Amino acid sequence: MAGTDAVALLADVPFFEGIDNKTRKAVAQAGKEVSFKAGDFVVGEKGVGVGFYLVLEGRVEVRKGSKVIATLGRGQFFGEMSVIDGQPRSADVVATAPTKCWVLPAWSFAGLIKAHPEVALPMLKELVKRLRAAMSSPVS
Ligand code: CMP
Repeated sequence: MAGTDAVALLADVPFFEGIDNKTRKAVAQAGKEVSFKAGDFVVGEKGVGVGFYLVLEGRVEVRKGSKVIATLGRGQFFGEMSVIDGQPRSADVVATAPTKCWVLPAWSFAGLIKAHPEVALPMLKELVKRLRAAMSSPVS
C-alpha cells in the first residue's frame, strides 16, 4: 500500500502514540487500504473475522439487526473483537459514506500487540468506554 496516509493517521491515533516513526511506518505497511461505498457491508455479523480496521476517512455504523449501536469515523477502530478471540463478528459494520479503512490482518495484529504491548492499553480504554456505553443503553 502507499502507506502515507496510514502512517500520518497512525501518528494521530491515541493507541499508536507510543510507537516511534520507524515502527509506525512498518506497522502501516503491514496493513492495506480498502475503500467502501456508502451502503457496503465492511464486516458481516457472524462472519469470520480476519482483519482489524481503522477508519482513515468516511463513516461506518455498527449495527445489530436494524439497531445502530455506534457510529465510527476517522481514527476510530473496529473488528478487534473477532481478531482477538477468533469468534464470529459480533455485529454488522456498514459504510454510511464513501469510506477508506486501513486493515491489518489478524496475524499482524497479534504480532503488533506482542511487539508493542503499549498499544493495548489505549485500546482497552476505548473498549471499556464502549462497554460502559453498551451497559448504560436501554435494553431493547
Ligand atoms: P467484531 O466483533 O470483530 O466485528 C464487529 C465489530 O463491531 C466489533 O468487532 C467491534 O469492533 C464493533 N462493535 C461491536 N459492538 C460495539 C459497540 N457496542 N460499540 C462500538 N463498536 C462495537
